[in-house]
Amino acid sequence: MDKLLIIGGNRLHGEITISGAKNAALPILCASLLAETPLQLSAVAALKDIDTTLKLLGIMGVKVARNGDKVSLDASEVASFEATYDMVKTMRASILVLGPLLARFGTARVSLPGGCAIGSRPVDLHIKGLQAMGAAIHITHGYIQASTLHLPNRRLQGARYYMDLVTVTGTENLMMAAALAEGTTVLENAAKEPEVVDLAEMLIKMGANITGAGTDVITVVGVEKLNGTTHNVVCDRIEAGTYMVAAAMTGGEVKLLNARADLLDAVIEKLREAGAVVTSEGDTITVKSDGKLKAVNIRTAPHPAFPTDMQAQFMALNTVATGVAKVTETIFENRFMHVQEMQRMGADISIDGNTALVKGVPYLDGATVMATDLRASASLVLAGLVARGETTIERIYHLDRGYENLEDKLNALGANVKRIA
Ligand code: UD1
Repeated sequence: MDKLLIIGGNRLHGEITISGAKNAALPILCASLLAETPLQLSAVAALKDIDTTLKLLGIMGVKVARNGDKVSLDASEVASFEATYDMVKTMRASILVLGPLLARFGTARVSLPGGCAIGSRPVDLHIKGLQAMGAAIHITHGYIQASTLHLPNRRLQGARYYMDLVTVTGTENLMMAAALAEGTTVLENAAKEPEVVDLAEMLIKMGANITGAGTDVITVVGVEKLNGTTHNVVCDRIEAGTYMVAAAMTGGEVKLLNARADLLDAVIEKLREAGAVVTSEGDTITVKSDGKLKAVNIRTAPHPAFPTDMQAQFMALNTVATGVAKVTETIFENRFMHVQEMQRMGADISIDGNTALVKGVPYLDGATVMATDLRASASLVLAGLVARGETTIERIYHLDRGYENLEDKLNALGANVKRIA
């Protein structure tokens, strides 16, 4: 299994380009199932989760062609309406095929995701939302079996649905399903994440009638059919945020191209509070720091508040900052797996429930570490970049799920990172 070897201590300097967002691309790829004519996408990053989704769509009969960051998808002849356990267990976001399959074909069989490293992460709200639209849903043998065949015109029926927790993929699944439903659907307490907005923008280009994406009430007036379109996936704010923290921690100066500061308000605010200088112009963001950072309290919450997908990276920042920080995770119940590994590098962190108390230390020591999820792995890379000596990160397939060309981008900025088999 591949590992990353990092020699810490280099300041990062230079420019890199941010890739298209993984979390926007995944629902957008699944939305291809809704279209009767081909969809052309650009800025689709080369990531393991994207490969998994393309494989899943291919198994269903979607014709997929990929050329660099461009992907075309033709779902005119879908033959299978199933996502098996093998697919869903490797990538939870496979659940995003449920809404589109059910809305267009009237039937879907999708495995329940089961547990995952960062908590139980149920999909009950996806299911309840589809039921509110009239779907008949049975859970049997670990699978969600859904049908609309008993409904008028075999179509989902528009409904008003309040999600009692803000769920990103839940909002996306229901928005896609509602796009082809009969009548009007109102999704209340909807997720406001930029990736939801990007999906909505593409669905609208496909012919959907959607208003309110980016607010907590999304209204979808169903249409009878959707067509293909062209779409450029929004930039990855979490990838950008990760490199911004890297620049701040190493005391460097990094300019990010294809990055949108307006999607990163809470993260930029915290970086400034920590002492970094962040400026932006057009679609670039520059972060400059002398490496002397102050500890910053973090509390994760749905967008536009501080993203849970940046929590681990700011934990890394706090480990070497001056002072004491409280890091509170409110979205996932088990998202502190990076803490033990950081402790092995000399970090001073104690956990009490969903809060971690991080006391900054003068330096971290390189060590062999591993993490069990994507952003936790990223935080260990950040720790490795500033640690004294050598850090080996194991199980980097997690990083390959979500960071395109991570070591190339870091090395282009002057880091010393090597992939070893
Ligand atoms: C998405 C992102 C993930 C990010 C997360 C929160 C994708 C592919 N993944 O994950 O990177 O960390 O949003 O910003 O976009 N919940 C329920 N029932 C449900 C659905 C969710 O109880 O039916 C709970 C979850 O367990 C969690 C919370 O709601 O505690 C938020 O989860 P959710 O927003 O759904 O996360 P994902 O969409 O899976």
